Amino acid sequence: MELTKMFLFLSFFASISSAHTNIVDFCVADLNYPVGPAGYPCKNPANLTVDDFVYSGLGVSGNTSNVFGVGVTFAIDLTFPALNGLDISMTRLDIGVGGVVPMHSHRVSELIIVIQGRIIAGFISSDTKVYYKTLKKGDIMIFPQSLLHFQVNVGKTPALAFVSLNSARPNFQTTSTSLFGNDLPTNLIEKLTLLDAEQVKKLKSIFGGTN
Ligand SMILES: *[C@@H]1O[C@H](CO)[C@@H](O)[C@H](O)[C@H]1NC(C)=O
Ligand SMILES: *[C@@H]1O[C@H](CO)[C@@H](O)[C@H](O)[C@H]1NC(C)=O
Repeated sequence: MELTKMFLFLSFFASISSAHTNIVDFCVADLNYPVGPAGYPCKNPANLTVDDFVYSGLGVSGNTSNVFGVGVTFAIDLTFPALNGLDISMTRLDIGVGGVVPMHSHRVSELIIVIQGRIIAGFISSDTKVYYKTLKKGDIMIFPQSLLHFQVNVGKTPALAFVSLNSARPNFQTTSTSLFGNDLPTNLIEKLTLLDAEQVKKLKSIFGGTN
């Protein structure tokens, strides 16, 4: 397909892919098409069943065998296509004893509910004020959009929490992997962070960075 036709084709699907048009009740993603700013094109509603609106993947613990001791299981458009266009998603956090969800941010806000264990959760505002607290079972906390935030299991047992974010594809940018998990040169990272080369290289080896 020539480029202009391809562009028109994609724009058409992008324009109909959001349930926000109010022309459709929902728009279950057809993952066979590319995603656009408003999400995916819709599956033919004639082919949908109730099972398209149910996702059972959050019933299983995530794997916490990693450097942060956290298992993260996503119900986002890619795993639960019914979320497409609805600006909502849910994620399961299994945090091992001593584990953390490292400092990160999203374009959208996040609400956490603790189901089990004791978690210190916090965020840092753009004027560098930190808001953090030990959360227990049943507590919820909001992390406002785009601010850096974190969770730390400070209990003696594994912790379980669920988070809901107001995007079907929230993405997240983790400070440590962004800085040390790519080929950004060590001498630049030294300047940007005031860390010394040895420390930068150590972190690059943990997060798979080069240079
Ligand atoms: C969806 O339903 C239409 C008719 O309702 C049918 O022609 C088509 O083959 C179905 N597509 C899939 C992927 O099942
Ligand atoms: C958990 O992840 C580790 C590290 O990637 C892997 O070695 C292990 O097999 C995984 N365990 C399960 C149960 O998938």
